[in-house]
Amino acid sequence: MIRETLEKLSKEAAEQINEALAKENALEMLERIRVLYFGRKGKITELLKDVGKLSQAERPEAGSLVNQVKKSIEASLESAIQGAKKRKRESRLKSERLDVTLPGKSPKIGSLHPLTQIERDISAIFARFGFSVVRGPEVETDWYNFESLNIPKDHPSRDMQDTIYISNDLLLRTHTSPVQIRVMQQVKPPLRILCPGAVYRHDFDASHSPMFHQIEGLLVDEEVTFGDLKGVLGFFAREFFHESKVRFRPSFFPFTEPSAEMDIQCFICHGKGCVVCKQSGWMEILGCGMVDPSVFKHVGYDAERYQGFAFGIGIERPAMLKLGIPDIRLFFDNDVRFLRQFQ
Ligand code: PHE
Repeated sequence: MIRETLEKLSKEAAEQINEALAKENALEMLERIRVLYFGRKGKITELLKDVGKLSQAERPEAGSLVNQVKKSIEASLESAIQGAKKRKRESRLKSERLDVTLPGKSPKIGSLHPLTQIERDISAIFARFGFSVVRGPEVETDWYNFESLNIPKDHPSRDMQDTIYISNDLLLRTHTSPVQIRVMQQVKPPLRILCPGAVYRHDFDASHSPMFHQIEGLLVDEEVTFGDLKGVLGFFAREFFHESKVRFRPSFFPFTEPSAEMDIQCFICHGKGCVVCKQSGWMEILGCGMVDPSVFKHVGYDAERYQGFAFGIGIERPAMLKLGIPDIRLFFDNDVRFLRQFQ
């Protein structure tokens, strides 16, 4: 009796296992078969319980028969499960295969900000005369920004309207000229320095930004004349703007005497007059002059022995002119669509 039942059961199990193996979800089906035979109410489990109920005489043989069949079904189930797992792994490997010969995504490479590029271009021109780059703090004291530069207490640039104050004595530097003072306090002449950096003023529209950049230049030596100033700055204009005509207009700065502003002939219309130069034929580029002896006194230089010239170039305006940028604010929005154009 039990022999027949067991034979039938083995055959059934073998068929079910084969069927399961043919299915997409073979592993799931095999697990179901395992429960069907060996679960708490599984067919083999029940048979083993029945064996327990047999008489002492019948039990050993029946028990060994059931155990044999149990082992054989277990073994074929186990090998079926292993086979199904292997197949699953292989099909995953196949479907997830990476084609390493496909072209990759090239990383986007950043570039220097256009203002940094212009600052470096300008510095490189003056480097040929032996000027080296020095930087100073953007938060300054009243003394460095104004007093030492001979800017009197009632000068309009000291007004709250123009200067951004942090406290009574501290402010955001309104120009790069205080770096001149800091360097002269530490270094004896002769010296040739360029001081690039950010400066701050109360101003904001299409051509003014509350933060903008300047490059200060200072040369101090014996027997320096206004002719030297004209020679060096004229050379700069030719190199940077490729425009040979410059003119010096008399001007005033408290820390230089005499003072001047340098214009270049408009490199768009070459002097005929156009929208860029507002029909004047000229473009204003920088302020300059011979260092006022009173500035030398503030830093302990012998004003009888030494002379010097200084200049201050705004970086944004030449950059806008050269790169054809209509609005200063574009420099500071940091829109990559804008910045990418200057790679
Ligand atoms: N510091 C001046 C300004 O910001 C520019 C300048 C520098 C003029 C050096 C003369 C000499 O306007």
